Amino acid sequence: LMQLPVYPTLLTDIRDGVLTITVNRPDALNALSTRVVQDLEHCISAVSEVLANDDGAWPVRGVIITGTGKAFVAGADIREMEGMTPDEAHAHSSRMHQVTLAVEQLPVPVIAAVNGFALGGGCELAMACDLIYAASSASFGQPEVGLGLVPGFGGSVRLPRYVGPGLARELLFTGRRLKADEAHRAGLVTALFDSAEELLDGAHSTLAAVARQSPTAVALVKRTLSEIEGKPTAEGLALEAESFRTAFTTQDKAEGTRAFLAKERPSFPGR
Ligand code: CAA
Repeated sequence: LMQLPVYPTLLTDIRDGVLTITVNRPDALNALSTRVVQDLEHCISAVSEVLANDDGAWPVRGVIITGTGKAFVAGADIREMEGMTPDEAHAHSSRMHQVTLAVEQLPVPVIAAVNGFALGGGCELAMACDLIYAASSASFGQPEVGLGLVPGFGGSVRLPRYVGPGLARELLFTGRRLKADEAHRAGLVTALFDSAEELLDGAHSTLAAVARQSPTAVALVKRTLSEIEGKPTAEGLALEAESFRTAFTTQDKAEGTRAFLAKERPSFPGR
């Protein structure tokens, strides 16, 4: 069984092959201080290392990121940023950018389970995940300009990709918050749930469906989607053909096709 170290600002729990990471600073609505960013960095890199070296065992098939209490994450920590120098701010931004890239590079799907406020850095953390699920209590926004700030954890890049350039501009220029249902209609949120409990159940059930598939194939799809992002069609298709070739080198592909033809359920070796 997989063991993770203890992180001061995170709760971690592994159940049924799903790692749940809960940002746990309820007194500051789970704001992303440099400590939280460091804990996230260490936690994601620990998972990534285990998955890179587990030789087909896949102890984690999916990750859920959520927050304690009434917030998902209410942004970067404004109290801490009040005293930051410009260079420290740049380092803070770059470090969290690395965390968002590490989330994108994890070989398993990551679901942001947004239970409450996902503002500024919180919305940006959610957008680094593969899917954003939300409870009806969730709200989203990039309120930076109201603080004399700009997005620092990826919002300028990822928000337009989710909601399109027009709505992204409106939200970034006004700081207006989207309630869960509007965020759902805008394409930021993939699935909406009535309560925080149903939200976590929903995320678990999607990741259970993922866990019935070939882990190498899921990882390959995730990597391919990320590699082809922003590329012209022909280049994207060439990368897809490479991935298709790679799939044919796996034992999972041999087992998946064999099982189909034998009318059996596949038992994927995970490599
Ligand atoms: N940083 C530090 N502390 C925060 C925080 C943040 N982002 N958000 C909330 N808190 C703290 C509050 O200061 C308050 O602390 P005290 O109890 O010590 O006063 C506590 O959390 C509870 O917050 P509120 O009393 O404000 O709770 P509320 O329910 O009345 O309001 C809220 C909730 C609307 C989310 C409000 O807290 C708020 O507007 N928070 C700031 C949201 C924001 O602007 N986020 C963007 C930050 S900038 C950024 O993220 C830059 C980037 O891209 C990297």
